[in-house]
Amino acid sequence: MSIKNQNILQKNQKYTVEIVDYGSNGEGVAKIEGVTVFVPFSIVGEKVEIILIVIKKDFAIAKIVNIIQRSPNRVDPKCQYYSKCGGCQLQHMNYAEQLKFKQKYVQNSLKKFAGYVGGIEQCEASASEYAYRNKFSFPVGEADGKIFVGMYRPASHNLVEIEECVIQEDSKPIIDAFLRFANENDVHAFSDQHPDGVKHLVARTNKNEVLVCVVSVKKIRNLHKFAVILQKKYKKVHIINNINTKNNNVILGDKDFVVLGDGQIEFNEFNLKYNVNVHSFLQVNNDIKHKLYNSVLGEIGSKDIVIDAYSGAGVLSAIIAKKCQRVYGIEIVKEAVENANSLAQDNGIVNLNNVCGDCAEELPKIIKNSKANVVVLDPPRKGCDKRVLDSLIAACPQKIIYVSCDPSTLARDLKILAGNYEIAKIKPFDMFPQTANVETLAILKLNQNCKN
Ligand SMILES: C[S@@+](CC[C@H](N)C(=O)[O-])C[C@H]1O[C@@H](n2cnc3c(N)ncnc32)[C@H](O)[C@@H]1O
Repeated sequence: MSIKNQNILQKNQKYTVEIVDYGSNGEGVAKIEGVTVFVPFSIVGEKVEIILIVIKKDFAIAKIVNIIQRSPNRVDPKCQYYSKCGGCQLQHMNYAEQLKFKQKYVQNSLKKFAGYVGGIEQCEASASEYAYRNKFSFPVGEADGKIFVGMYRPASHNLVEIEECVIQEDSKPIIDAFLRFANENDVHAFSDQHPDGVKHLVARTNKNEVLVCVVSVKKIRNLHKFAVILQKKYKKVHIINNINTKNNNVILGDKDFVVLGDGQIEFNEFNLKYNVNVHSFLQVNNDIKHKLYNSVLGEIGSKDIVIDAYSGAGVLSAIIAKKCQRVYGIEIVKEAVENANSLAQDNGIVNLNNVCGDCAEELPKIIKNSKANVVVLDPPRKGCDKRVLDSLIAACPQKIIYVSCDPSTLARDLKILAGNYEIAKIKPFDMFPQTANVETLAILKLNQNCKN
């Protein structure tokens, strides 16, 4: 704690403040004697009585004890676990305020980390504000001999028990079925006491179909009985037992045992029929996926040769391939590349090469040999490897279409590309309503003075 803050701010002391801005997690920001105070679950314009719970060198964190002046944008959260569970941060805001926060968050990140002061388009709204997610991964716990499905509490590894998750398309029937199966078959949560227990319950849903994956260290017996319970609710049920012997943050292990069904779930969209297994990445919000992919497609011309880097299960690569000359997809997860290859084959797409490998190694080679003039980047939260960006700067493709799920790493990467590219468009998409996360599309065009 700095001497300055120590003198100004008192821990456990009450203050009355006005919320003037938002932080990157959607928490309100107030100032006390010039010191930034983060106030979770508050809204800009509100006057609140707070108590300081953490005081650091450059900021403090507070808890609301009383709302003195309530924002008209405040609404009742739908979820009974809201604020105990770390999954959502914005359920206390109406949807218009959530979209406003996300647009400003992208704008602030690009200004702070990339020096970008140009326009940001409005954040594209999701058709569903709740029940939009097509995938969940819930940790399984046990207390007093009772197994439960949970979510992590904010910034912790402790679990809060949940019966459902309101941002999921369908969680309650799957959780109910799992708990009934576990209780009837003496199945426990993984622990030192029960090393053969369940670690995670993962599911992917699609209206009539469900793909459920039970993650454990050792094979779980009688899982077909879980399938029988689920079959009462879903037309088609796929069940996998995934074996994860590692003790780290990665949810899935390398080995899958298919208990029932195909081990993957079928989707029918974009005039494509395709299957996705539990290891492959798929955008979680179907409506926003359509809006985002259509915006990307709008940037592609019939003569283009495109590299789709970080291509997941290959859905975007395939729809781009239907519109242009050739596409090279690059993806590191082998199961996702298997899905992408089947998708191309089953839908008669012949101008798509799916490459399994690290973009940092594969993209520099492909861009040299392919004459690609457009590159789509859709990396994980940590953004692009420096070698990917260096190869783009060297090869100078005409256009870069950057899809990002983290505005700060997007800004860092745009700053690196700024010498050669100008930003033609920045548009946020609300892939994750009720949470502080946001997806952003950035369109970069090669500067006139750069030659390739
Ligand atoms: C945000 S997802 C995008 C997937 C795809 N574009 C889509 O819309 O479904 C990022 C993908 O990058 C993959 N990935 C992560 N690191 C990678 C790397 N170094 N090289 C290639 N792919 C990588 C992940 O497995 C994941 O499928």
